[in-house]
Amino acid sequence: MWPSTGCLSRPRRGGWHQHAVALLATLLLAASATAPASAAPNPKADELKEAINADYKFSRTNWDSAVMNDTLSNLKLESIIWSARPPRFQFTVFTQLTLNRLPTLFNMCASFSGPLSAAVFLPVVQPLDSRGRGGEALSEGSRGKIAEAAAEVERLHARVEEDASMCQLDIMLFYEVYDSDQSKLLYPVNYLRNYARMQVRTRLLAMIDVDMYMSASLSAEMEAPGSIARYEVLCAERRATVLPAFEPTKPGALGRIMATNISRVTKAQLGAMHGRNKAAMQFKLRVFPRGHTPTDYPRWFAASQPYQVTYKRFYEPWFITCEEIMPWYDVDFRGYGMNKIILIAALNYYNYSFWIHPAAWLVHNPHTDTEVRKVVAEEASQVNKHRAVLPANALYRKLTVLFGRAKRGMMKGNYEPRTDPRQMAVYGRVAWLPQPPRLVGSPTPESVFT
Ligand SMILES: *[C@@H]1O[C@H](CO)[C@@H](O)[C@H](O)[C@H]1NC(C)=O
Ligand SMILES: *[C@@H]1O[C@H](CO)[C@@H](O)[C@H](O)[C@H]1NC(C)=O
Ligand SMILES: *[C@@H]1O[C@H](CO)[C@@H](O)[C@H](O)[C@H]1NC(C)=O
Repeated sequence: MWPSTGCLSRPRRGGWHQHAVALLATLLLAASATAPASAAPNPKADELKEAINADYKFSRTNWDSAVMNDTLSNLKLESIIWSARPPRFQFTVFTQLTLNRLPTLFNMCASFSGPLSAAVFLPVVQPLDSRGRGGEALSEGSRGKIAEAAAEVERLHARVEEDASMCQLDIMLFYEVYDSDQSKLLYPVNYLRNYARMQVRTRLLAMIDVDMYMSASLSAEMEAPGSIARYEVLCAERRATVLPAFEPTKPGALGRIMATNISRVTKAQLGAMHGRNKAAMQFKLRVFPRGHTPTDYPRWFAASQPYQVTYKRFYEPWFITCEEIMPWYDVDFRGYGMNKIILIAALNYYNYSFWIHPAAWLVHNPHTDTEVRKVVAEEASQVNKHRAVLPANALYRKLTVLFGRAKRGMMKGNYEPRTDPRQMAVYGRVAWLPQPPRLVGSPTPESVFT
C-alpha cells in the first residue's frame, strides 16, 4: 500500500493466525466507507473540533472571488484523532498535506520520534448545474468521498499508533467545497498550517513541510535531558533555530532512497556525501538558491556551535521556535508560492534573529510537481520571459500583489498577516488553548527587499 523506500520494512511479528485476522480487518475496513471507531475518544480533541466548526456554513469557494475579492476559504473539520501515546518530548513538529500525501506523512513520521501535528486536506468539487443550481448542502457523492477520506486517515493513524518507534501523531482532516476544478487549485496551505499549529500542545514547535525528513540527530537531541529547556530560554530573545535543508542530487525512486540515507547518517558522513556531483546538496540549489543560501552551508560543515546569519530577501528556512512568538501564516497565500517566504520576512520584521543548528538537518523527499505549481511557474515564465500582462485573476499576478502589500506593511511598520476570523474565534471558545501571540514589529529598511 505504501511506496517502498527501503526504510519502512520492519520485522514481521505474529503467526499466520494473526496475519489472517489483520488481513480480514483490513478487508472489512476497506469495504466500509464509514470510519471505524477504534481510536479512543479524546474530550479535548472533541471540544476543539466543535469550536472549529461552530460557525461553519456550507458554501462553494469560487476562484474569481477568492483571487480578486480576497474572500476567505471555508474549511470544515471532518475528523480529529489524537495519539493515545504520551509525547516522547515537549517539542512538536506541525505540518499540512493533501489526502494523497498520506504515505509521505507516514515516512515523515518514521523519521521523527516525538509529537507531530498534521492537518490533512480533501478538496471537494461540487459545481452548480447550468442553471446555477446545486443545493446548499453536500451531495451524497461528496459525503461518500469525505467518509472514505476519514477512514483512510483513521487507518493511517492506527498504523502509526501501533509502532512505538514512530511519531505521536495528532491528525485533523479538513475539507473545503469548490465550485470548479480550477478553484480546487486554491489549496488553503496557510489555513492548514495555522490549524496544525493550533493543535500543538507543547511550547516548543516547528513547522516542517511534509516532504521533509528530519535527521535522526534531531530526535536524539530532543530526547536528551535539558534540551527542551535550553531551546525555551532562547525564545525570550526571539531566536529562531534554523534547520539546514538538503536534497538528494538524484530524482525519483533512487532519490527517495538517498533521502532516507541522508537523514540517518552522521554529520561527518553527510560532509563526505555533500556536493553537486555527490549524493546530497543544498535544498533547491539548482532552482532557487536564495531560499537557503543565507544558511551558509560551507560554514555549517565546519561549525560545532550555533552561529547567527543575516536575513536576506526570499530566505525560506525551517526553524524551531516557541508558541508565544510564532507568527501566523498569512491565509491570503493559497495554492502555491511565497507562503513561507512571507513568514520568514515577518520573523525579520518581528526582530527575530536567525541561528543555525550545527548538528540537525532536514532532507527533501523528492516527488512530482503539484498541478498548481505548474500553473504558477508557467505564468511566471510568461511574465519574466515574454513580458506578458496576466489577467487580473491570474494566481501569479495575485502573488506579486500580496507580496507587495506585505512588503509595504513591513516597511511602514503596520504589517499584520491576514488570519481567518473563524479560526481566531476558536481561541475565545476553548479555555485550554494558549492565547494567540500579539507580536509587534519594527519597520524593515527597504534595502532588505532589494
Ligand atoms: C467582488 O465584489 C464586488 C462587490 O461586492 C462584486 O460586485 C463583484 O461581483 C465581486 N467579484 C467577484 C469576482 O466575485
Ligand atoms: C548511506 O549511504 C552510504 C553510502 O552509500 C553508506 O555507506 C551508508 O551505510 C548508508 N547509511 C545508512 C544509514 O543508510
Ligand atoms: C532587536 O533585537 C536585538 C537583539 O537581538 C536588540 O538589541 C534590539 O534592541 C531589538 N530591537 C527591538 C526593536 O526590539
